[in-house]
Amino acid sequence: MSFKARMREAAQSKNSSIVLALDFPFEAAENRSKVLVKAQRVLKAVHLYICAVKINHHLALPLGTFDGVAQLVEQIRGQGLLAIMDAKVNDIGNTNQVIAEYYYAAGFDAIIANPFVGWDEGLKPLFEVSKRLNRGVILLAYMSHKGASEGYGQTIIDPETGEQIKQYVAFAKKALKWGADGVVVGATYPEKIAEIKQILKDKVAIYSPGVGAQGGAAETAVKAGANYLIVGREIVNADDPAQAARWLCDSIKGV
Ligand code: XMP
Repeated sequence: MSFKARMREAAQSKNSSIVLALDFPFEAAENRSKVLVKAQRVLKAVHLYICAVKINHHLALPLGTFDGVAQLVEQIRGQGLLAIMDAKVNDIGNTNQVIAEYYYAAGFDAIIANPFVGWDEGLKPLFEVSKRLNRGVILLAYMSHKGASEGYGQTIIDPETGEQIKQYVAFAKKALKWGADGVVVGATYPEKIAEIKQILKDKVAIYSPGVGAQGGAAETAVKAGANYLIVGREIVNADDPAQAARWLCDSIKGV
């Protein structure tokens, strides 16, 4: 089954479209085992209310990909959830491929990549290895932070038509052309979610971070067309992460 289909199935069986961003603040290197304990605790508390977990560099750095992170991935998969690596892959093709191979060897189901590097000798090898190993690729389309407009919001000339288009529109079109499994569009920009949804329809899923801590509203993002919400601090830093995850999950049911 493809990653896209596995995500749909996980969301259905968990009755949740929340992807937990398992993010924690910096700890001194000698205290890094505390981060693993915290991550395991949060996962245990919230696993009933989410469909997948996203891990970022700032968890892989203290825990190690084949040490703490691989342990977490095993826990994630044991709970019937999918594991997504937010590597924002952004290098030359050969490097991108090796990065993905390591994360897939650690058990990840999908990886996030940056389409700014282009196809030939850029993301093509990453897509090839992902298809071969039946894993997913999710592309950035419009990031959730304030400065996103400086890159993703630029007006560019479409090399195929010669027309002026927005960079994020070009990335949404590339997601279709390259066969991506998803795109990331900030919940902080619901109008961009709606515009990108018009292009992607139901062919490529929209993953939307930026709910809560960054100011995005869950219901608005889903109404605009987000398929999955990526949520970190709003859940992880809550006094009761399970309650926060359940509340968030319930708040978008039937929207
Ligand atoms: P918070 O705490 O703000 O965490 O809920 C959000 C998580 O998502 C990541 N993030 C993004 N990842 N494209 C991505 O691929 C984005 O536009 C984006 N915005 C936020 C962030 O690093 C954190 O893990």
